[in-house]
Amino acid sequence: SAPARLAVIPGDGIGPEVVSEALKVLEVASPVKLETTRYDLGAERYLATGEVLPDSVLDEIRGHDAILLGAVGGRPGDPNLPAGLLERGLLLKLRFELDHYVNLRPSKIYPGAVTPLSEAVLARGEVDFVVVREGTEGPYVGNGGALRVGTPAEIATEVSVNTAYGVERVVRDAFSRAQRRPRKKLTLVHKTNVLVHAGAVWSRIVGEVAPDFPDVTVDYLHVDAATIFLSTDPARFDVIVTDNLFGDIITDLAAAVTGGIGLAASGNINPDRTAPSMFEPVHGSAPDIAGQQKADPTATILSAALLLDHLGHADAAAAIETAVLADLSERVPGAPRRTAEVGDAIASRLS
Ligand code: NAD
Ligand code: IPM
Ligand code: MN
Repeated sequence: SAPARLAVIPGDGIGPEVVSEALKVLEVASPVKLETTRYDLGAERYLATGEVLPDSVLDEIRGHDAILLGAVGGRPGDPNLPAGLLERGLLLKLRFELDHYVNLRPSKIYPGAVTPLSEAVLARGEVDFVVVREGTEGPYVGNGGALRVGTPAEIATEVSVNTAYGVERVVRDAFSRAQRRPRKKLTLVHKTNVLVHAGAVWSRIVGEVAPDFPDVTVDYLHVDAATIFLSTDPARFDVIVTDNLFGDIITDLAAAVTGGIGLAASGNINPDRTAPSMFEPVHGSAPDIAGQQKADPTATILSAALLLDHLGHADAAAAIETAVLADLSERVPGAPRRTAEVGDAIASRLS
C-alpha cells in the first residue's frame, strides 16, 4: 500500500535522542514504507536564524500524513530564549493551525512499571484511562495582556476562551471514545465552583450531548479533587474530558502515578483529518538530562504507536505496545539503560 509521509521534528534537549529511537521502532513496525522529512525547528534554529516556524515550513508540514515531535523548549531562564517563544510559536502554533482539538493522553499501569502508588491503591482495580484534553482553546490562546509592566501597579490577564463550538466537538469526541471502551464512563473535570462562566459551558454541553450516548455513564469532578482521586483511586477513571490547562496539569500527574513521565505518550489529533495529527511524548525537553543518553524513549515509542494507529495500522500499533510491555517487565530497577539501548531492545522484539 501507499507509503506514509512523516514530518519529523526532533526539537530540543532530549527530543532528538528519543525521536531517533522511535524512528528505529517505526522502521521495523510500520507495515508501510515511511517517507520522513526532518525539520530542524527549535532552539538552535531560532538562535542561529531568528526563525521559529516560517509559514513556508508550516505549509510543507501540512502536506504530510502525520507528525512525530520530540520536544521543544530551552533551559528555563535562558536569557537568549524569551519565555514561551518556542512553546507558543512552534508547538502551540502547530496544535492551533492544524486544529489538534483532541489532545489524547492515555495512562495505563503496565506490569513492571515503577509506580509510587501503594499496594492498597493498586488493589482497587486496573488502571487504564485516557485524558481527552481540549487542545485549541482555554487559557492557551494568548488572549490577555499586561499593563504598567514592571511597576507596582502592574496588571496581567490571561483570559480563558471556551467556545460552544470548541467545547462541543471535544466533548463529542470524548463521549464516542468512552462508548468504544468496555467501561463506558466519562468524567468531566473542571472547576465549575469558581470558573462559573467557562464551567457553565462545559457542564451544559456535556449534559446536552449525553443523550446521544445513552450507554455512557457521566460524572463530574472539580480539578482539585481529581488530583486526589488520581493519586488515591486512579482505577475509577475511564475517559476524562477537560480543558487545555487542567488537562496539561493532570496528565503530568497521571504520568507520574502510572509509571513515570518517561512512559507517557500523546497524540494531538485532528479528528476531522483536515490536517496531519501530531504525536509526541507528554514530557518536555528535559534540559537537566539532555545529551547524556539518560532519557527514556518509551513515551516517544508509544506515541509512535498512537501515530500508526491513527494512520489505520492498529495491528502494528498493538505490536509496539506488546514489545514495550515485554521490555518493561524485564527492566531492572536501579540499572538504567542508555536511551539507545532501550530503543534497540524494543525494536529487536519487533523484527
Ligand atoms: P520536562 O518534562 O522536560 O522535565 C521534567 C522532569 O522530567 C525533568 O527532571 C526531566 O529530566 C524528567 N524527564 C522528562 N522526560 C524524561 C524522559 N523521557 N526520561 C527520563 N526523565 C525525563 O519538563 P520541564 O523541565 O518543565 O520543561 C523543560 C522544557 O521543555 C521547557 O522549556 C518546557 O517549556 C518544555 N516542554 C516542552 C514540551 C513539549 O515539547 N511537548 C512539554 C513539556 C515541557
Ligand atoms: C505539554 C507541554 C506544553 C503544554 C507546553 C510546552 C506548551 O507542557 O505538551 O504538555 O502546556 O501543552
Ligand atoms: Mn505539559
